[in-house]
Amino acid sequence: MFGLASFCRVLLVFLTILTGSESISSMILEPIKSTGEEVGLIFIPGAYIKAEQYRKTARAIQLATELRVWVALTGNYFYNVVNTNEMSMAVDAAISELKKAGMTSETYVGVAHGWGGYYLRDYASDSRLKALVLMGSTITRTTSLRDFPIPLLTLAAELDGVTRITRIAVEYEKLTHNTTGFFKGLYRTPVIYIEGANHAQFASGELRPRLKSADLKADISDKQAHREIGKYLNSFLTATFSSNDSQIDEALDQLSVAFLRSVKKFQPFLDVRNLDTDGEESMWTLLAQEYFAEEYGGRVAVSNKILQNPWFFGKEPTISFNDDHMIIGTIALIHARDRTDFRKLLRGKESPIEINMKLVSKDAIWKALGSQNDTSLRSEPNTCKSLNRLALILALSSSSEEARERYFSRGRPIILENDAMRGFNTLWAPTSLQTWEDEEGLHVRAIALVTSNDHYCKVMSPYRAMEWVNVDSLRAYRAQG
Ligand SMILES: *[C@@H]1O[C@H](CO)[C@@H](O)[C@H](O)[C@H]1NC(C)=O
Ligand SMILES: *[C@@H]1O[C@H](CO)[C@@H](O)[C@H](O)[C@H]1NC(C)=O
Ligand SMILES: *[C@@H]1O[C@H](CO)[C@@H](O)[C@H](O)[C@H]1NC(C)=O
Repeated sequence: MFGLASFCRVLLVFLTILTGSESISSMILEPIKSTGEEVGLIFIPGAYIKAEQYRKTARAIQLATELRVWVALTGNYFYNVVNTNEMSMAVDAAISELKKAGMTSETYVGVAHGWGGYYLRDYASDSRLKALVLMGSTITRTTSLRDFPIPLLTLAAELDGVTRITRIAVEYEKLTHNTTGFFKGLYRTPVIYIEGANHAQFASGELRPRLKSADLKADISDKQAHREIGKYLNSFLTATFSSNDSQIDEALDQLSVAFLRSVKKFQPFLDVRNLDTDGEESMWTLLAQEYFAEEYGGRVAVSNKILQNPWFFGKEPTISFNDDHMIIGTIALIHARDRTDFRKLLRGKESPIEINMKLVSKDAIWKALGSQNDTSLRSEPNTCKSLNRLALILALSSSSEEARERYFSRGRPIILENDAMRGFNTLWAPTSLQTWEDEEGLHVRAIALVTSNDHYCKVMSPYRAMEWVNVDSLRAYRAQG
């Protein structure tokens, strides 16, 4: 359909071509060192951020390195947001300004922040840029780091409320995928995070209100954040472009140290994420069934299968016997988030929306084990709510001590509501896990179905709890709209 949206897009392109070359401008910062290899950093700003707002960041980089760093801060974009058409114009203009100012080498490096990164990453693959730095931004989810054509530094902030730490964990995971190419990847495409920094601190001053309200409160000062940015850009740029062996050695060493910190930070996120789904099985559903079996846990073996609808809808959990062991076959449906929506590129959550579990009830286990006569051992069955509590406990124990302290001191808590009961599968199936936010925190109400044989639960994924603890809980509540 050729609607208003496409008309506006055509008009925007036209206006950009008409006015773009005049409006885009670069602010040049000359090197402060007189020796060292020449490197030209071309900054592409985040949405609605002015060129001038990167001056302090750029200065911190120049101060941190022995390289002779030139800087071009691009800005004055049409609508204050860079777009595909303006990108090549901006880089070309920056290069010609750098040359005019006296830069002689051809070592140009793109440095993009937030939204700017989503345009620069596509442009950079086939351009005059020799390396790329993404600050609070990433390459696409499906591009492997190894296949990225030029060296790439993904520099993240722990308290980035826009490009969240859970999204960066996906980039970190790519780095660990290939063990043979591991060290090469570590130096060529490092993924590093800055502790206590937020999205705004890659620049200086204020973000526009919409982004500002998404961002989290930083734990370090702007000055400290800029010093850290300088440190890591120096490591990356020196490792990539320097010809001084002792400086390269030191840079590689710094990149390894930064990587070890990343392992400690990101690996627990991935471990908890993998509980939701590990290929064909939901480990979390297995654990839930064992938790429901409680005192009989030692006498049952549990298996699981992840299914999609309509198959999930039609299946029931099973009990079978193998020698004296009882085998419970559970079923799970993982309701993942839609990642195709371009507007959710920023700020999107990584964790599933909900986990649907079909478990065998404790009563059925009790009967099947022939323990009717043994009434003394029998305790009340657990609730779906208790699984949500378990998810939260796991999320907390898998988070760093600093993150836990932040959650308890200034995070809005997860509030577990009593289960909403449904009498039939036909009513349980279409009802979603209920979650809602207010000043108090995040309310979570599981949807349960209990029959003499089955215990169905729609519950929060542990990764959702972990994402809440580490990111969303730290935001002040803002009514939607
Ligand atoms: C791992 O990386 C090496 C070197 O970068 C590459 O040659 C190899 O094909 C990669 N292996 C896999 C399984 O991706
Ligand atoms: C290499 O760097 C080190 C440390 O910055 C410096 O002491 C040394 O003089 C440099 N070597 C050359 C050949 O420039
Ligand atoms: C339960 O007790 C009754 C009589 O006390 C006995 O006949 C029956 O076999 C017992 N059931 C099991 C499963 O142990």
